[in-house]
Amino acid sequence: MRRADDRHLASGDETWWRDAAFYQVYVRSFADASGDGVGDLEGVRSRLGYLELLGVDALWLTPFFRSPMVDHGYDISDPRDVDPLFGDLDVFDRLLADAHQRGLRIIIDLVPNHTSNQHEWFQAAVATPPGSPERARYIFRDGCGFGGSQPPNNWTSTFGGPAWSQLRSSTGDAGQWYLHLFAPEQPDLNWENPEVVADLERTLRFWLDRGVDGFRIDVAHGMAKPAGLPDMPQPIATGSGLLQIDIADPRFDADGVHDIHRMIRKVLDEYPARVAVGEIWVSDDLAFARYVRPDELHIGFNFRLLEATFEADRVREAIEHSLMAVQGSPAPATWTISNHDAVRPVTRYGGGEAGLKRARAMTLVELALPGPVYLYNGDELGLPNAELPDWALQDPVWRRSGFTHRGREGCRVPLPWEGGTPPYGFSPTPGTWLPMPPDWADYAVEAQLEDPGSTLSLCRQALELRKGHNAFTGSELEWFGAPPGCLAFRRKAGGLICGLNTSSTAVSLPPGEVLLASGPLPPNGEALPPDTAVWLV
Ligand code: GLC
Repeated sequence: MRRADDRHLASGDETWWRDAAFYQVYVRSFADASGDGVGDLEGVRSRLGYLELLGVDALWLTPFFRSPMVDHGYDISDPRDVDPLFGDLDVFDRLLADAHQRGLRIIIDLVPNHTSNQHEWFQAAVATPPGSPERARYIFRDGCGFGGSQPPNNWTSTFGGPAWSQLRSSTGDAGQWYLHLFAPEQPDLNWENPEVVADLERTLRFWLDRGVDGFRIDVAHGMAKPAGLPDMPQPIATGSGLLQIDIADPRFDADGVHDIHRMIRKVLDEYPARVAVGEIWVSDDLAFARYVRPDELHIGFNFRLLEATFEADRVREAIEHSLMAVQGSPAPATWTISNHDAVRPVTRYGGGEAGLKRARAMTLVELALPGPVYLYNGDELGLPNAELPDWALQDPVWRRSGFTHRGREGCRVPLPWEGGTPPYGFSPTPGTWLPMPPDWADYAVEAQLEDPGSTLSLCRQALELRKGHNAFTGSELEWFGAPPGCLAFRRKAGGLICGLNTSSTAVSLPPGEVLLASGPLPPNGEALPPDTAVWLV
């Protein structure tokens, strides 16, 4: 076996991630090489040329570890192996080596808050009596009320319903309850147990030694729980699968979580040029800032831009808060408008032609901002959310919300690559894991590649400029006055100006030479039409 460092992408740049364009590969839906209708690691490897052409710097691979797939891989039964659905460790090693050869880095998901209920630890926990060391790796409690028949507190699961499930006792008395902030098949780990800490360290080193460039940490504001597990002030009845928290919520952001991030950082610091980015759903800027202190996460996702509606004031507010939250920390702000849990931007911004125009405009806004940016696979093609029939829905959110919330699969439909009918080159089989819409031929990569007006071409040009043009240097922004419904900012050092028009009338362009626009500009080049963004120098 080669030494770990040989496998790692050679680079003198320890902080390559500070302005990297990351591309999130939802592995199930990217490309299927095995022909079972589900995307896999070999599929990703076969499409690395595309990612290089697109011009991204790094990939984030969603979980490909052993899993019963109740939450499509976020329920892990063995974090140190590849699920046969996606390949094996050899395929992973080949993918990583090939990506590195092309100059693409790879970060992978780390899911420390919970395991699968099929993990050997949880299997052992249910096979042993209350009080056993096996149970102490999870959060087991006796129930309340008569005969312990009520859950230990009022916490609800992010996916809907109570956050507690009761075990059936073989001896006839009331079984204990275990905590799961997500599906019952995802029991929460007990982070006060040193065994849990040691196991995560093992997982970190396992993948770092294989050469991964870092981790995206799932539910990075979860893990630690407050002493005594106090009730939620306002339990939320149905789940959405998204983790927005607007109220003081005892389920997340407990102080103890920062010790865990310090531990993770310590391990990462032993390896050169690695990065940890946390999924941090906290709405308070100060609370966010604590996650990116110098000895914690390198960077954190904040979701303000993703949550902002297509209104200049909201977008500006999101940008300002994101910058404010990292002020005084070594971390740059991190930008994203999309991921595998959210409705696709085209649909979120209104759908149809207007939705697409707005999504393209917001892509230019996010790519104009200083700091790392995360693009979600398929957004570069301008894909809308797909409408799926009830029978196709597999997301636990659908069932757990009492069939009131359709879940997150509309943004997880496999990617169209070529040809005029499903599966559009995604897979050798037409039986893809989610049905692909019959009218997606025009979205296919092949159909967009040579078309200069396509969304794919826009993203390629934007990424190339962002990487190569010196207007994009520097980390500070200054804002310009702008007409109602518009915003304009300038990268102070490099001089790039980005203007966005979210109003319904054309406005005059800021002065400067147009580098790129998200849609056609009028021939005299003096106006910025509605639903359009522009880059100028
Ligand atoms: C994160 C993931 C989401 C998953 C949840 C539970 O929010 O992004 O897809 O369902 O964590 O692991």
